[in-house]
This record gives sequence, structure tokens and C-alpha cells, in this order.
Amino acid sequence: MSPGVGGLIITIDGPAGSGKSSTAREVAQRLSFKHLDSGALYRALTYGLIEAGVAEEEWADLTVRELRGLGITLESTKTGFEVRLGGRLLVDELRSVEVTDRVSLLAGLPSVRECLIGLQREAGSGGFLIVDGRDMGTVVFPEAELKVYLIADLKERARRRLLENGREVFDDTDLAEEASALEERDDLDSGRAISPLKSPPGAVEIDTTNLSFEEQVSVIVELVNELTL
Ligand code: CDP
Repeated sequence: MSPGVGGLIITIDGPAGSGKSSTAREVAQRLSFKHLDSGALYRALTYGLIEAGVAEEEWADLTVRELRGLGITLESTKTGFEVRLGGRLLVDELRSVEVTDRVSLLAGLPSVRECLIGLQREAGSGGFLIVDGRDMGTVVFPEAELKVYLIADLKERARRRLLENGREVFDDTDLAEEASALEERDDLDSGRAISPLKSPPGAVEIDTTNLSFEEQVSVIVELVNELTL
């Protein structure tokens, strides 16, 4: 068990659209763990800054105190955590194109990482948490009992992301556009100096390109069960 933690922590990291959040949510439900989507916090800060009318050129100058002043909080629920901005629940707002296009820019700032790390560790303080993101196994929960690194071919990730966004019909051009947006975010996330996206030491790498959702969920549930047997 992690020092000071009363239960297991499982991390799932990986590139954009690799299915981390949906997989983590389902695994958590089957095991009666809580789920935290850490990306939602970065998205919430991005949303908060856009909504407050703070120009992108000014984001790098914001202090941790100013970022905290936006009022991002995590509220514990039965199954996980709700992300709130000044008390207001954020859900669909977090997945808008405006937020998605800018979130990686914000996530590369040291003040932003400092602002959000405490919230994430606090969420893990009770253990029994499945958390997904980019630096869960490397930086936020380096002592996690199980670290998973989820990957999939870029084209397959683009296909899944279009479906997830409710697109029923799409052609090669749509796929190529989505793939290029995912790739751009991956490059920013893995190329940054602080908390870059990478496979954590000791992680179990799972390539989901040819796995069904059920298969990828089962593989992880099995790995957790092996830990607890
Ligand atoms: O769902 P998707 O994989 O598209 O992204 P997400 O998990 O919602 O994360 C959105 C963005 O937040 C990522 O592209 C990263 O820039 C940032 N992020 C991060 O830097 N560190 C994390 N632990 C989670 C997300």
C-alpha cells in the first residue's frame, strides 16, 4: 500500500483518446473504487480562464494564488468526484472544442501543475482510487500499487474520439483532422518540461488498438484482483 494511504491507488496514464477515462470509470465501478479524471481539472481551469476573459497570452504570468482564486474544487460523490468552478458543477463545458484546443497549453505551466496537485493527492488520501491522466504514475501518485499505461494507434484513437463525440458518419478527412488534433496535443503533453506524458517506471503497458472496451476493462480488473488476492 502507498505510505499513508489506507487503500489501493491505481493509475492509468496515456495519450489523448486512448480510452483512459471511460476505462477507468468502468473499472472503478466494477471494483467499487472511486474514479478521478484528472484531465477534468486541467479542463476546468482552462474553462474558468476563458470564461473570466483572461487572454491566452496572460496565462503564463498567472500565479498559483490567482489560479486558486478561480475556485476549482473537487467534491466527493459515491462513485468519484465532481469538478466545480465557484461551486458550479462543470460537465459538458469541459469537453468543448474551445477548451480542448487550449488545455495542453495551460497544462504545461508550472503554476498550473502546482495549483492542481494538492487536489489530486487529497482525492487519493482515502485510497481505493482509480485515477487517469498524463502524470498520475510518474508525479502525482508515484507510489501507486498498480500503474497502467494505455496506448492505441493514432487512427483508432481518432475513430473512437469521433464516435465518443456523437459523430455517427465520418470520412477519411474527418479522421485525419481528428488524428492531427490528438497528435498535436500528444506532442505538447509529451514534449513539455514539467510532468510530461510518459510511461511510468514499472507500468503495465496495454495496447488497446485491437481490444474491445470489455477486453481492456477486464484486463485491468484482473490486474487489480491479482494485487488484492
Ligand atoms: O480525454 P483526453 O485524453 O482527450 O484528455 P484529458 O484526460 O481530458 O486531458 C486534457 C488535457 O489535460 C491533456 O491533453 C493534458 O494537456 C492535460 N492533462 C495533464 O497535463 N495532466 C493530467 N494528469 C491530465 C490531463
